[in-house]
Amino acid sequence: MTGGAGYIGSHVVKELKRHGYEPIVYDNLQAGHREAVTNGSLVLADLADAEILKETLRSLSVDSVMHFAADSLVGESVQNPKKYFNNNVRNSLQLLEILTEFKIRKFIFSSSAAVYGEPETIPIPEEHPCSPTNPYGETKWIFEKTLEAFHALGKVDYISLRYFNAAGADPDGDLGEDHAAETHLIPLVLRAALDNTSVRIFGTDYDTPDGTCIRDYIHVTDLAEAHILALEGLISGKSSGVYNLGNGNGYSVKAVLKAAENVTGRKIKSHEVTRRPGDPARLVASSDKIQRELGWIPKYPALTTIIQTAWEWHKKHPNGYKKQSA
Ligand code: UFG
Repeated sequence: MTGGAGYIGSHVVKELKRHGYEPIVYDNLQAGHREAVTNGSLVLADLADAEILKETLRSLSVDSVMHFAADSLVGESVQNPKKYFNNNVRNSLQLLEILTEFKIRKFIFSSSAAVYGEPETIPIPEEHPCSPTNPYGETKWIFEKTLEAFHALGKVDYISLRYFNAAGADPDGDLGEDHAAETHLIPLVLRAALDNTSVRIFGTDYDTPDGTCIRDYIHVTDLAEAHILALEGLISGKSSGVYNLGNGNGYSVKAVLKAAENVTGRKIKSHEVTRRPGDPARLVASSDKIQRELGWIPKYPALTTIIQTAWEWHKKHPNGYKKQSA
């Protein structure tokens, strides 16, 4: 799996191992962490390097691929679209072509709610029109369409999983969320709880009950479980296609802060600032399709559980993977 040392990838590796698979992590460790690869072997390499990729596939026995490696910051994608089209489209296409050459057909793709853009209906079903509003979402949408076209030619069987807001940490405490430049709400709120710093609330003038943005937070372990079901679905001959992954419940930024105060038992400071460009007011998934077709049932749907597991990890790893507190 590409990007298996990252936040979501590492949780999926753990689930794969638990289900008896032998995951091989292919990661350049630019965003991922060696310490997060505790459940599989690591090939330290860049996806852009076609020769190393081919060499790896020649020397190891690979039946299927999960493709997590990508750049995933909306704001950065607006500033530096070339990086996003290179890494998320060009490298993904090269991967797909090489897999075709090696006759490796099963492919699970990390897509995103960002493919929808500003939603017309809530909750969002998979057939909702896709109209991404930033290069990040465009790259995910383009590669979904690439998979569809390769599938039509009989070259790949795929499932694209459109993640809503992945959050939380491994309930055993082994893995957590550690991004070099953290931009996500829940880890920032928990860091603020630890450091007694203040969290920015991006916009209080949205058309939502408390004026702040609403998101659908999904526990990373539930997300990981969906990858196993997707893989097993493909193995058992289920059709290729796309699935949303969320809990179907929307929480505002202010609701997340309140829930984090309840979980941590600490007052969390915040201050209101202007909107962050490109943030849709509401993103809430309908995950009926994956529940119906692949039997996905989230184990940790409650926001408080999601925050609690993240809190346990952040307390133990205030500086991320590198420096653990005693
Ligand atoms: N937010 C704040 N303050 C912060 C950080 C975030 O108010 O310091 C708000 C954001 O404006 C947003 C909500 O908290 O309304 C959640 O923000 P995140 O950055 O945690 O997550 P996003 O919803 O922006 O991003 C997620 C995925 C992206 C994906 C995007 C689709 O992480 O990969 O959804 O829009 F592209």
